[in-house]
Amino acid sequence: MQTKQLDKQNINKLVITFYTRVLKNEKLAPFFIEHLGPDMKSQTWQTHMDLLTDFWTTLITGSGDYRGFPFPPHAQMSGLDREAFETWIKLFFESVDKIFTEDIAIKFKEKSSIIASNFMRNLGI
Ligand code: HEM
Repeated sequence: MQTKQLDKQNINKLVITFYTRVLKNEKLAPFFIEHLGPDMKSQTWQTHMDLLTDFWTTLITGSGDYRGFPFPPHAQMSGLDREAFETWIKLFFESVDKIFTEDIAIKFKEKSSIIASNFMRNLGI
């Protein structure tokens, strides 16, 4: 059942749901496997998912747990194209709809769309 409760535990569920889909997707998986490896249970993946949980918690609730710079790692990734971003958005929206009710889901969708557009502009794609 979808939840209205916007807390770190549910945001972590969203992150896990999203990356489970990403690793099964033939367009996106190679980027993540190259940088983080194939095993979502590894320490590298756990660290990444904790970081992304903090990232989304900060964006949506203003908690301030994430103080990093989201764009730079993407500038190093060769082969990123519009189709990769379209796939990223599709899987992220599906994951958001699975976890959160519509009123909350819309917030994640709006933020992620803006950031994806900014990344594509920065990458010149
Ligand atoms: C096709 C699209 C994308 C791909 C393939 C991708 C892939 C990755 C990978 C592999 C990393 C880990 C890099 C490393 O630690 O070596 C990463 C980090 C990250 N990504 Fe993405 N990403 C994409 C789009 C996005 C979008 C649209 C957002 C935000 C809405 C996002 C947010 C982040 C953040 C916050 C980090 C961590 C940055 C830090 O180190 O502080 N990514 N991404």
